[in-house]
Amino acid sequence: MGQRIDGKVISQAVKDELKERVKSEGIDASLAVIQVGTDPASTVYVGNKKKACEYIGIRSLAFELPEETSEEELLELVRELNEREDVDGILVQLPLPAHMDEDKVIRTIDPKKDVDGFHPQSVGALSIGQPGFVSCTPAGIIQLLKRSGVEIEGKECVIVGRSNIVGKPMALLMLRENATVTICHSRTKHLKEVTKRADILIVAIGKPKFITKEYVKEGAVVIDVGIHRNENGKLCGDVDFEDVEPITSAITPVPGGVGPMTIAMLMNNCVEAKGYK
Ligand code: GUN
Repeated sequence: MGQRIDGKVISQAVKDELKERVKSEGIDASLAVIQVGTDPASTVYVGNKKKACEYIGIRSLAFELPEETSEEELLELVRELNEREDVDGILVQLPLPAHMDEDKVIRTIDPKKDVDGFHPQSVGALSIGQPGFVSCTPAGIIQLLKRSGVEIEGKECVIVGRSNIVGKPMALLMLRENATVTICHSRTKHLKEVTKRADILIVAIGKPKFITKEYVKEGAVVIDVGIHRNENGKLCGDVDFEDVEPITSAITPVPGGVGPMTIAMLMNNCVEAKGYK
């Protein structure tokens, strides 16, 4: 039976360390959060980010714009926040309404304030091992592994999913930790054979309970990035937890695994952002 990697406990530890650091070093950091429209899931995420800021002692500034805001108006707000001395981090909650070009909006954020780590400059810096903000979910997974005593160096790591937000930065981070990294995706042939090579299997494909024990090597560490809600309102991940857990050495549950780490690492980036100025 695998060790359950508890993302709630580990994210709390990260937040407590940050809170202590903010207090002892007198760090006065601030995060501007922009939400366009009233998507209920986004409203929950934004609310959780504000609460985390409050807990740690980071000032948060909320910008709630109506759905019909023009792209230029949003870009103008981002440019204004780029210039403001009292703003250290800028986060534009995604997804944006269909009439806006997300890439253009992300490119407008000053990389020094890009606490999501989505700007091409942040991604480029990560790929060549230079300092910059790292996307929060992959950074959180590294913390989960390290704080659970999972050794990464020299291990076979297989990542299922190649998104810009998770799969690709995850691969770069595991490479930085000296793992041997394979990225799989929807066109990968003989997927089971590839995933079965993994000492550390990271799954971010967005398909509920897709990974069953036939995909997993005995004793592997399994990290599940997926989150889905079934007809009965119950949450599950991309991994069939009940099926896979018995053969793993460690596994993250959904909920309570990777999810809570994303906000903890966002808070870490906000504290770091103060130092970039
Ligand atoms: N929407 C869902 N997750 C995220 C995130 O991590 N950052 C932003 N900006 N939007 C999101």
